Amino acid sequence: MNVESSTTLLEDVILVHQALPEINLDEVSTQTTFLGKTLSAPLIIEAITGGHPETVKINATLAEVVEELKLGMGVGSQRAALENKDLEYTYSIVREKAPNAIIIANIGASQLVEGYGVKEVYKAIDMVKADAIAIHLNACQEAIQPEGNTRFKGVLNRIKEIIETVDKPVIVKEVGNGISRETAEKLVEVGVKYIDVAGLGGTNWVLVEKYRALNMGRRDLAEIAETFTHWGIPTAASIVEVRSVSKDITIIASGGIRTGLDIAKAIALGADIAGFALPALKWAIQGNLREKILKVIQELKMAMFLTASRNINELKRAKIVIKGVLREWLICRGININSYLSTGRARGFR
Ligand SMILES: Cc1cc2nc3c(=O)[nH]c(=O)nc-3n(C[C@H](O)[C@H](O)[C@H](O)COP(=O)(O)O)c2cc1C
Repeated sequence: MNVESSTTLLEDVILVHQALPEINLDEVSTQTTFLGKTLSAPLIIEAITGGHPETVKINATLAEVVEELKLGMGVGSQRAALENKDLEYTYSIVREKAPNAIIIANIGASQLVEGYGVKEVYKAIDMVKADAIAIHLNACQEAIQPEGNTRFKGVLNRIKEIIETVDKPVIVKEVGNGISRETAEKLVEVGVKYIDVAGLGGTNWVLVEKYRALNMGRRDLAEIAETFTHWGIPTAASIVEVRSVSKDITIIASGGIRTGLDIAKAIALGADIAGFALPALKWAIQGNLREKILKVIQELKMAMFLTASRNINELKRAKIVIKGVLREWLICRGININSYLSTGRARGFR
């Protein structure tokens, strides 16, 4: 069953090959810092799971690998454990297995308007001794679910309250439909410093809900889902939309990131780090997560070598070409591509 969208538009980003990189492959460093810790590569495993006894093994596997490889990970929505203390262990296993890695707690924006506040956010953070809390925005998914919570009025104010009160970094993330320029502007205005774009091109909750609706015999809902299959902002477009709002925020590129080349393109386009969820889940189940992540990091390293980028800062300035639909998208959105590429996409860019 395919639950992935067809395009991130990263195929419209070309990293320009440098035949004379004047560096050695083994000099290339993928190291970076995120949330005050050093990562061996700009990669996190995105929020996936927790809340059911069967998820403990998956969370343990993900955590062991991120600890060993010096990466980071998010846990899935902690609502289940906030409502039932007995399920806390399905999340806290992550910190047990990864005492040093970056761990990101997770709650949903719609819970914030239902009454969750600073107290629940602290509980979620304490449960996994998190380095940060992610608040996910999933309006599209909720709208398509028969039991979905579509009350999103007031979310921004709740996010503002949390940022002003909680002493941990707050990441605002989508779940596969991307963050627009307008949304990023609102988030930056209330003090958000970390945005995870989770754009279109990877896990597609509309498709997931379509299959669920068909299983429930709800043809009507499945047809609505079908109509909205391609809804959202492709990951590559979302990275540029968000970066064009602020040079100072940290951008996590996710949504259809599948290879080290995708990570290199996302960073050269304006992101700081990247993340993926579905591949990590599949590899954890298959038992080859560690090898696959090492392969991804090697691909990133190779792309850096071939663009003459010794480190992640240099990758942020790598020469790129933006073509096709992504180019049209940016033109329609009033983003000046030449000035974006020459000075707009990274801090301290000249
Ligand atoms: C099985 C699964 C469960 C997920 N659960 C959550 C969640 O609880 N909270 C959340 O913020 N995002 C959740 N996500 C979304 C991911 O964190 C990520 O933003 C999105 O899947 C895009 O990445 P991908 O294309 O690499 O899967 C989930 C994704 C998957 C595949």
